[in-house]
Amino acid sequence: MRLDRFLTRHTAHTRNEVKHLLSSKRVTVFGEIEQDSHREISEFTEVALDGDILQQRVAIYLMLHKPSGHLSATHDAQHPTVIDLIDHPLRSELHLAGRLDRASTGLLLLTNDGKWSRKVTQPDEEITKTYRVTLRDPISEDTATIFEQGIYFAYEDLTTRPAQLEILGSHEALLRIHEGRYHQVKRMFHAVGNKVLSLHRESIGLLVLDPDLAPGQSRCLTAQEIAFFGGR
Ligand code: URA
Repeated sequence: MRLDRFLTRHTAHTRNEVKHLLSSKRVTVFGEIEQDSHREISEFTEVALDGDILQQRVAIYLMLHKPSGHLSATHDAQHPTVIDLIDHPLRSELHLAGRLDRASTGLLLLTNDGKWSRKVTQPDEEITKTYRVTLRDPISEDTATIFEQGIYFAYEDLTTRPAQLEILGSHEALLRIHEGRYHQVKRMFHAVGNKVLSLHRESIGLLVLDPDLAPGQSRCLTAQEIAFFGGR
C-alpha cells in the first residue's frame, strides 16, 4: 500500500493532514525521512511518525533440513512437526512454503512472508524442484521418456508437466519437476509400476539445501537466496 494510505489507516490524521506530515519531514521509513506519498509500504516496512514506530515487523526466511518423521505442519496433536525443530524467537509466526511427506527429507522453507511463500509454491511460477529418490524396483529404461511426456492424474484431471529423470543407478535417480502436486513424485513412480522407498528434496529453484545443515538443523536464508523468489 502507498505511504499516504498507510498513514491515514494507522493514525487519526486526514489525507490533507498526512500530506502536511510528509512535507514537514515528520515521517520516516526505516529511519530515513520520507516525503514521497507514493512510496510502497509492505507489512515489513518500518514506518515512524515523529519518532514513534507505527509498524515494525521483521520478515523471516529459513531453510530447514527436514528429517524423516516430522510432519510438514505448524501444529499436530499426534506427531512432532517441523516447527518443533525451529529455534527462533518468532517461530510462532512461521508458515511453510511447500511441504514434504512425513517420511521425506531435505529442503523445506519457512517464512512469515505470505507474498514470498506464494511465489515459491504457486504452480504457475513453474519453479523446479529436484528430488533424489530410491526405488523398490530397478528403474525401467522408458521411465525418463514417460515422465518427459507427463503422467495423467485422474483425480485432478491433469497431465503433469514434462519432468526430467536422471538415472544415477539401478534403483536411484534425480527427478526434476516443475510443479508441486499432492504426493507427485510417489504417484509418478506408482504410475510406472515402481515404488518410492526414500525421497529427499535437494533444491527448490536456485535454492539448494545447505550441505552444512544436518537433518533437523535450520538457518536463515541469505539476501541473495531470498531474492531468488523476488524477495523484498
Ligand atoms: N512428492 C512426494 O510424493 N512426496 C514429497 O514429499 C514431495 C514430493
